[in-house]
Amino acid sequence: MTKFLITGASGLLGLNLALAVDGKEHQVFGVANTTPMRRVGFKSIQAELTESGTVDRLLDEIAPEVIIHCAAIANVDDCESKPQLALEVNSRLPGKIAVAAASRHIKMVQISTDAVYDGQKGDYQERELPDPLSVYARTKLGGEQAVLDANPQALVARVNFYGWSVTGTRSLAEWFVNAFAAGQTVKGFTDVQFCPMMVLDLVDTLLEAVRLDLKGIYHMVGPQKMSKFEFGRAIAGKFGFDPELVQPASVFDGGLKAARSPNLSLNTEKLTTALHHELPLFDAGLQKFYDQYRHGFPQLLKSLS
Ligand SMILES: NC(=O)c1ccc[n+]([C@@H]2O[C@H](COP(=O)([O-])OP(=O)(O)OC[C@H]3O[C@@H](n4cnc5c(N)ncnc54)[C@H](OP(=O)(O)O)[C@@H]3O)[C@@H](O)[C@H]2O)c1
Repeated sequence: MTKFLITGASGLLGLNLALAVDGKEHQVFGVANTTPMRRVGFKSIQAELTESGTVDRLLDEIAPEVIIHCAAIANVDDCESKPQLALEVNSRLPGKIAVAAASRHIKMVQISTDAVYDGQKGDYQERELPDPLSVYARTKLGGEQAVLDANPQALVARVNFYGWSVTGTRSLAEWFVNAFAAGQTVKGFTDVQFCPMMVLDLVDTLLEAVRLDLKGIYHMVGPQKMSKFEFGRAIAGKFGFDPELVQPASVFDGGLKAARSPNLSLNTEKLTTALHHELPLFDAGLQKFYDQYRHGFPQLLKSLS
């Protein structure tokens, strides 16, 4: 049994991670800020992590063996309007946690993003230089650098994932399902490529990476590249909605505040070599997402806040 501290435990990744890791009989302390969790098996803590002294106090009180730092300002367009907040939370906070973790010999995992690349070529390998296009992406890259400067033993996972969240609105997949259920037609970008991973597959991959004590930067995304349009159509098909509800559109048609990288397909060979196995296929992840829906998991999550 390992003692985990998971930040962002009210967020899309952090909550799914805290629930699943707790279910695997580890001890989990989950930190949320404005939306503390209730009726959860893990120990729920409310904290504003950027407040002076908070990180050191929590690490002293809890003494975790592993920190998985998921908390962030993760809304790409919000970061454009609040660049100072994005800098504080996405760049400086991870650095502070990394310093505090290193001095206490705590393993740190920093959750980063595929968006650190400009998306001009795709199939990026970890050794290639990122070139972020937005405030979000720049501040997340700053977070990676601050963590690895302070703590070279840390693991930085560049992720892209989907799943169910406490608000029902945090992931693109939820947005598609909500729109389809309301009978609405939505736009799916045909010119934005990514490699979505179901959040439960990401949870398993992160736990395995911790067990193997992986260090440095790893791409932790799904093994298959697709456009957002194809992703939307796949979800419609799986959930029994008319795939025509997703209409082809271009990201360059406007309306988005932050610049988006067009091709965020990432190469995962470094990860699969370290794990000694392939990553779960997209269809298997989508089936898990659908099974959770059929079993009322989205409603269960909403009842936890
Ligand atoms: N969603 C994606 O597909 C995606 C893609 C690439 C990378 N990522 C990365 O994955 C990680 C998780 O993303 P997510 O989508 O799960 O984010 P999310 O749903 O927006 O959740 C963000 C979490 O951070 C917490 N938080 C923010 N500021 C905080 C502060 N000052 N003190 C304490 N907690 C704070 C929030 O707490 P409260 O809500 O309680 O205030 C919330 O729990 C992030 O690092 C993100 O950059 C996400």
